[in-house]
Amino acid sequence: MPFRTIIEPFRIHSTQAITHTAPAAREAALARSGYNLFGLHGDEVLIDLLTDSGTGAMSSRQWAAMMDGDESYAGSRSFYRFEDVVKDLTAFREVIPTHQGRAAERILFTVMMRQGQVVPNNTHFDTTRANVEHTGAEARDLLIPEGRVPALRHPFKGNMDVAALEATIQEVGRERVPLVMVTVTNNSGGGQPVSLENLKAVRAVCDRYGIPLFLDACRFAENAYFIKLREAGCSAKTPKQIAQELFALADGCTMSAKKDGLANIGGFLAMNDPKIAAECRNLLILTEGFPTYGGLAGYDLEAVATGLEEVLEEDYLKYRLRSTAYLAEKAEQGGVPVVQPPGGHAVYLDAKALLPHIPPAQYPAQSLAIELYRVGGVRGVEIGSVMFGKRQADGTETPAPMELVRLAVPRRTYTQSHIDYVGEVVAEVAKRREALRGYRMVEQAPWLRHFTARFEPVSL
Ligand SMILES: Cc1ncc(COP(=O)(O)O)c(C=O)c1O
Repeated sequence: MPFRTIIEPFRIHSTQAITHTAPAAREAALARSGYNLFGLHGDEVLIDLLTDSGTGAMSSRQWAAMMDGDESYAGSRSFYRFEDVVKDLTAFREVIPTHQGRAAERILFTVMMRQGQVVPNNTHFDTTRANVEHTGAEARDLLIPEGRVPALRHPFKGNMDVAALEATIQEVGRERVPLVMVTVTNNSGGGQPVSLENLKAVRAVCDRYGIPLFLDACRFAENAYFIKLREAGCSAKTPKQIAQELFALADGCTMSAKKDGLANIGGFLAMNDPKIAAECRNLLILTEGFPTYGGLAGYDLEAVATGLEEVLEEDYLKYRLRSTAYLAEKAEQGGVPVVQPPGGHAVYLDAKALLPHIPPAQYPAQSLAIELYRVGGVRGVEIGSVMFGKRQADGTETPAPMELVRLAVPRRTYTQSHIDYVGEVVAEVAKRREALRGYRMVEQAPWLRHFTARFEPVSL
């Protein structure tokens, strides 16, 4: 085709108004929320890039399928359709619906983990880490070293360090490793993909020691498309074939359908082992619901089933990855370094590089996220020492390895002009970089502190 522009592969069928707020109103909102952007009301935000989780637009086909949802408490037709779609994609024999990804994590980890065990992952997402630690096990991140250098380009920066995995198993002993997890794509490490080759190598280590391998599969379709674009021998395969190859390498997965399920709520746990699945279902009934709905309405199961089919359409994935890369280009043109290459669902601004005058203990990425909101009503999220730093008994903090602000792009929601606007806001903040100040955390919860912590600006 003679045309270079990659267009949105949809037209807009229904709209939702967004409104500009006044600078004074944004300042008041920041003060009220303790400078924590999770405390803002949705209507106080103009462009909301807080998360790509559950924030996307559903298609007319998804809404139509929802109208046909079967709300039977047990044996809903919508469940069987959902189960068929998940089995066709993953080939896992046991499919357990959950209301979202962390419910799948909590159930699986409660069944499989014990105090004192060690769980390797390329990088645990925050809820995954918290759910591992809640069982008394240790969450260990074993990302390849390239994945920790924001400016370094590597096609598969989400890969697991296979030598480190083997060394960890030998160090702690096979019996203390209940499972290995690989997160596709690696959200906390920049939305970076994992290659098939790497997953095969991880699988080989797991096989050698007899350890089950689970995928945190939230963004399996974006990961599959990166493989198609970047991995030798994969360009002729469809995204679905590649996704099926990924799942075939694992013994099970946790999934938040709020990402590549293209739904506003939903998730699942899937696996091959019927004994573990039976224990998981027992826990599911305790807190989520009967195994044919798992905390979801029948119509949610329909939305997820249709979403899992649509997400593998090639035009969609091509547009999805290109529109995220476009935002990364805008940010860099505006003078803010980003994690390279751009991830699938989000652009990660490198606050450490932009704000070297703010020490990690004063949360440079939190400062940058606050300023993007203050200047232009754009909401991102800190992925740095607020989220992953640890307060020690003496009151000092162990900082996170990177200080990033994630601008996550909701699926099928914002147009190119919204992203152009965000680029202008980023550039304006970059101009003011020297005036930005750090923050002090004045309140924090014992886990997942970033959701509710309160801050005060550090005075000059
Ligand atoms: C990699 C990863 N794992 C797990 C989760 C948890 O999913 P949920 O928010 O549906 O509980 C997320 C959510 O952002 C994620 O990005």
